[in-house]
Amino acid sequence: MEINKVGVVGCGLMGSGIVETCARAGYDVVVQEVSQELLDRGLGRVQASMQKAVSRNKIEQGQAEEALARITGTLTLNDFSGCDLVVEAAVENMAVKKEIFGQLDQILPAHAILASNTSSLCITEMASVTGRGDKVLGIHFFNPVPVMPLIEFVRTILTSDETMEAAHQFGASLGKTMVTAKDTPGFIVNRLLIPYILDAVRVYENGLASREDIDTAIKLGLNHPMGPLTLLDFVGLDTCLFIADAMYQEYKDERYAAPPLLRRMVLAGHLGRKSGKGFYDYR
Ligand code: CAA
Ligand code: NAD
Repeated sequence: MEINKVGVVGCGLMGSGIVETCARAGYDVVVQEVSQELLDRGLGRVQASMQKAVSRNKIEQGQAEEALARITGTLTLNDFSGCDLVVEAAVENMAVKKEIFGQLDQILPAHAILASNTSSLCITEMASVTGRGDKVLGIHFFNPVPVMPLIEFVRTILTSDETMEAAHQFGASLGKTMVTAKDTPGFIVNRLLIPYILDAVRVYENGLASREDIDTAIKLGLNHPMGPLTLLDFVGLDTCLFIADAMYQEYKDERYAAPPLLRRMVLAGHLGRKSGKGFYDYR
């Protein structure tokens, strides 16, 4: 199966990175958002990131311009009717994702593959609202998408060999390394990452050390590129809370229970870098 045109639902942190990566690999890309303001903001993020790639000599100015010209923004999923593959990167909420999957199943051509970039939610449940379970899978990218080399595929008991093969060809065309996980909450990476991040919040909440010392300890003691609280700000506190809640709901294991401080920071609008304030101040 040949993939020429890719649809991306949501142009937030992840959607904008997926759009950029696909356009740079030569795909025509259409991206949908819920308002013109959010679409403009997301496409602005794509533009800024491509400029950064140019300034770091990762791509030529001409390549960036060609890639940008391959991207179309829209406010309606009806514009996805010519897509061979759609990657859904809307908020981490099952009701929202099922609504999108149900609509796309009606709009997309019969051969099209329908993927979710979900961090933790059940892909089989999303597939259940479509008539094409064999063509549904998880394609989990990592933040920042143009830089992080991994894709985690999530295969359900319905996903066909043909779909997995097409997904592998797609991932290879983006220059990514691929791993495959079963459809269980958190897959491989977040199954391990989320308890670690939540523990870092608990350590801070319990007053064991300052946020700077927690981050410095992990950065320099374990050679991680970022400490856990900086990483939480980077991923988004709201997204992490959604993921933790989804994993706790499934496993009922205290390791996935969100610490009170995380929930309160999200309620207060301290979502991390994207809102200007999280554990650190970015304003
Ligand atoms: N396009 C291409 N390359 C780019 C780029 C872009 N838009 N932006 C940056 N780069 C390149 C830079 O040129 C640089 O490459 P070189 O080393 O070859 O020069 C490299 O990317 C690093 O960029 P910077 O120097 O600007 O930034 P940095 O060194 O401070 O690293 C970082 C930034 C890559 C984000 C690093 O801090 C990091 O790896 N952090 C951890 C990220 C992480 O863990 N992500 C996963 C989050 S969890 C997740 O995603 C799953 C989930 O479901 C929640
Ligand atoms: P985000 O909040 O930055 O962006 C989500 C975007 O989806 C928003 O711009 C929102 O307007 C849009 N949206 C909401 N409902 C929509 C709808 N019905 N149709 C179209 N767009 C809609 O969140 P994000 O960090 O980009 O996360 C998106 C998805 O990717 C989530 O499922 C998340 O779990 C997953 N993910 C996140 C990360 C991360 O590091 N943040 C990493 C991997 C996967």
